[in-house]
Amino acid sequence: MLEVTIEHLTVEYELLREKEILVALWDLNLRVLPGEFFVIVGPSGCGKTTFINTIVGLVKPTNGRVLIGGKPVMGPGPDRAVVFQDYALMPWRTVESNIKFGLELQGRLKGANKIIKEVISLVGLNGFEECLPHELSGGMRQRVGLARALATEPKVLLLDEPFGALDAMTREMMQSEFEKILLRTSQTVIFITHSIDEAVTLGDRIAVMTAGPGQVKVILNNQIPRPRYEIDIRNKKIYNDLRDEIWQLLKDEQEAQMSISTFE
Ligand SMILES: Nc1ncnc2c1ncn2[C@@H]1O[C@H](COP(=O)(O)OP(=O)(O)OP(=O)(O)O)[C@@H](O)[C@H]1O
Ligand SMILES: [Mg+2]
Repeated sequence: MLEVTIEHLTVEYELLREKEILVALWDLNLRVLPGEFFVIVGPSGCGKTTFINTIVGLVKPTNGRVLIGGKPVMGPGPDRAVVFQDYALMPWRTVESNIKFGLELQGRLKGANKIIKEVISLVGLNGFEECLPHELSGGMRQRVGLARALATEPKVLLLDEPFGALDAMTREMMQSEFEKILLRTSQTVIFITHSIDEAVTLGDRIAVMTAGPGQVKVILNNQIPRPRYEIDIRNKKIYNDLRDEIWQLLKDEQEAQMSISTFE
């Protein structure tokens, strides 16, 4: 478990065809504490994926820096793992082999089979080891993505709308399972979502981002005790109050984002 510190982070993209600069993130500051489950919500296009990719080390800051456990990020590293919205599985590899991929990248093949067995069991995919991704449901594919990330035993787990492609029912079930899995593992989690319900169910703290260029607008503390299963808490006043607060904050930014029509 490591702290993630973001200091004055600005990320600009060069749009070569238009010869323009697009400012995706602007002077963003944030501290995510070791072991915290930190959720980020924000309007589409405000820079959430850019933010995750910068922490992973795939996107370089234009200004500012990201520190993991006090050390500046210079590129991807074994202390971080990502779960993507579109699963990002290799279609020709089996479940087992897809999960192994993360360990292969790290050159950690010794003891790999034992770890793979453990994470397969953790995410409930026993019996599906030899299946190819196309033989699985969306929820199962996302479990493979999660297992691949967990197998590398990251200190920081980054998730970019991991349940975004799932239907409402599967999504809710995945959230509860995910909650259980994470209670049995330990890492700092940064979780991006479009869903306010998901944010309130999963986040210990929830940051609402501004319209692009993205900054942290406000951080809310979730006072609902863990474990939080949506089905148990969604009728409680405390849940709905927090939900409404986020909704209001997000609504203003969503409107602002939709009115952005020209590049910076
Ligand atoms: N590789 C890139 N090159 C140029 N511009 C990019 C690139 N990636 C993202 N952008 C731009 O940066 C801004 C932020 O994009 P990003 O994907 O980070 O947003 P997001 O908040 O993840 O959106 P969504 O909620 O739709 O996933 C957008 O205006 C997008 O067009
Ligand atoms: Mg995104």
